[in-house]
Amino acid sequence: MLSVSDLTKVFGGFTAVSNIAFEVKEGEILGLIGPNGSGKSTTFNLISGALAPTRGSIRFGGEDIAGLPANRIAHRGIARTFQIPRPFRRLSILDNVALAAFYGHAEHPAREKAYAYAREVLKLVNLPSDPAARVDGLGAAGLKKLELARALATGPKLLLADESLGGLDESEMNQAADMLAAIRKERGITIIWVEHIMGVLMRVVDRCIVLDYGEVIAEGRPDEVAHDPKVIEVYLGTDAADVQKTVADRAT
Ligand SMILES: Nc1ncnc2c1ncn2[C@@H]1O[C@H](COP(=O)(O)OP(=O)(O)O)[C@@H](O)[C@H]1O
Ligand SMILES: [Mg+2]
Repeated sequence: MLSVSDLTKVFGGFTAVSNIAFEVKEGEILGLIGPNGSGKSTTFNLISGALAPTRGSIRFGGEDIAGLPANRIAHRGIARTFQIPRPFRRLSILDNVALAAFYGHAEHPAREKAYAYAREVLKLVNLPSDPAARVDGLGAAGLKKLELARALATGPKLLLADESLGGLDESEMNQAADMLAAIRKERGITIIWVEHIMGVLMRVVDRCIVLDYGEVIAEGRPDEVAHDPKVIEVYLGTDAADVQKTVADRAT
């Protein structure tokens, strides 16, 4: 579905993403992990068109989308969530999602249809679609759900979830992970999930790519990656045993 090769982004003299290559198969949940500053969000910015690559190709469904403007990439079926949610705070939850449904499709749906779509998506993420429900009332977990709803409302084939579960408690994190698994299962949406809290991500993903200083340092199934000496050295450190246990529990 997605094929990235030789992808590079240089900011001034600093290379944030360096020659990365990976593929995503239709229906897969791929985890994109790595320490803070390793280039995960920049990779999402390049795929979604928020930034143009310095070099490299990004093929989506066989066509090169590298450097296309973000709206055109969205219309082709790639949606992304942002690490820091920035909804329209004066609008209702429902209006926020309906706007995404309206502008996120190449053929703008009729108003009624955009609202119907928004209600459906809000149900999926467990948020109220009552027009009186305000964004102000949402906590960190609610804002993450709204971010997800806005992305889903555009009707994506591929979802780039920049989750950052930071700020959520243990049960909220697990709920967020279960929600992504359900979106893949019920909607058939392919997902790339960026997250630096590995224990949670490793429960759900089929495969992981590990970035460090803008380069891919490992790729494989969760059990392979969790035992990879390089990944343990640069990233897992003293958490390695916990993450390995999570992966082993999942297999049984
Ligand atoms: N617009 C930008 N201009 C300059 N440097 C940037 C920009 N965006 C990201 N960076 C730098 O690129 C590196 C990778 O950032 P990022 O992709 O946000 O990392 P991650 O999401 O893995 O934490 C960091 O060193 C960051 O400071
Ligand atoms: Mg980031």
